[in-house]
Amino acid sequence: MTTTSTSRIRFGIIGAGAIGAIHMDVLSKLGEAAELRAVTDAYLPLAEQRAAEHNIPIVHPSPEALIADPELDAIVVAVPNQFHAPLTIAALQAGKHVLLEKPMAINASKAMEIVQEQQRTGKTVMIAQQMRFTGLARAVKAAIEAGELGRIYNVKTGWMRKKGIPGWGSWFTRKELAGGGPLIDIGVHMLDLSLHLIGSPKPVSVFGTTYAEFGPHKRGTGTWGTPNWEGSYDVEDLATALIKLDDGATLSLDVSWAAHAANYTDQPFIHIMGTEGGVSIVGNEATYITHVENEVVTKPIEPLDEVNDRELVAKHFIDAIHTGTTPVSSAMSGYTNNRILDAIYESSVSGNEVKLNWD
Ligand SMILES: NC(=O)c1ccc[n+]([C@@H]2O[C@H](COP(=O)([O-])OP(=O)(O)OC[C@H]3O[C@@H](n4cnc5c(N)ncnc54)[C@H](O)[C@@H]3O)[C@@H](O)[C@H]2O)c1
Repeated sequence: MTTTSTSRIRFGIIGAGAIGAIHMDVLSKLGEAAELRAVTDAYLPLAEQRAAEHNIPIVHPSPEALIADPELDAIVVAVPNQFHAPLTIAALQAGKHVLLEKPMAINASKAMEIVQEQQRTGKTVMIAQQMRFTGLARAVKAAIEAGELGRIYNVKTGWMRKKGIPGWGSWFTRKELAGGGPLIDIGVHMLDLSLHLIGSPKPVSVFGTTYAEFGPHKRGTGTWGTPNWEGSYDVEDLATALIKLDDGATLSLDVSWAAHAANYTDQPFIHIMGTEGGVSIVGNEATYITHVENEVVTKPIEPLDEVNDRELVAKHFIDAIHTGTTPVSSAMSGYTNNRILDAIYESSVSGNEVKLNWD
């Protein structure tokens, strides 16, 4: 199966849950660039319902059947984290390109299996880190690349939800299926975006701790996901970490699904500090700060445009397939994120700093 630079990419989606439905919305708006041909889900009635809602002609009875469909060029993997690696690897082996939901995998060794299969097959793998693609994130990236911050030496990022445990007792709160709690769920977004904005320096050491103070007591539950009160909770609900980077900068990460943190915004934040200026992104707003003649001067940063971030993810993925280029949120960047997450969990257990070797 080959695609040319003008051909429509034929998509199949594995996972018809909350995020799978968003991918369906996005792909069905891409006109000639994409054709949404097939869907499957472990719960087939949901796949059938989504197929009817989104005009998808084929419902496959299993991920294996969808992956084997010769009429598909690319697959969106939108299932619980535990299944990201096996399904992505099977899709690559069947000659498909893969747009994979975050986090790339439940741990770095599974992420590395994807990296190796991607390199062996030469197919496109992109992690759906849509926060890189917002108009605001692109404006901040442009300001950093124009040198407006000087040398960046400290980043403080996080996402402190006060009452947002998703789907208590479902796959979200089971280590075996999710790999962890808010650290791997929303922390991966903040880590990925921060490293991307500051030019992807390599992490060299990590010190962190995780806590589970709400989840085990069925407190702090939010609205995302469907709870299963007969299920279980064995992941963290708060994580804090300091990551040293190979250019001398440090990055601190604080995330929670639930916490007693009154004056922390519930929104994602990144404060990037450089020698000549800094940028604070909080939710959908960003501010530039600098010192002029020993006075603090600030100005808002405007988004580059209002184009939908998830639409840009899909377009970037399609473009990478046509041109054979590596997408910005590549398999290697997903692997780097997974290594940092693993190191935070390891540091929390051992109580020690974890050094990361990249040889
Ligand atoms: N990019 C983002 O901002 C974002 C937001 C939410 C979720 N996600 C990611 O998307 C993935 C799915 O999350 P969700 O919120 O849609 O979960 P969800 O529970 O709403 O949906 C998951 C679906 O996968 C199906 N499923 C489970 N195992 C399967 C398997 N082996 N094969 C086929 N189908 C299977 C389930 O039946 C369910 O319908 C997760 O990896 C999550 O981290 C990303």
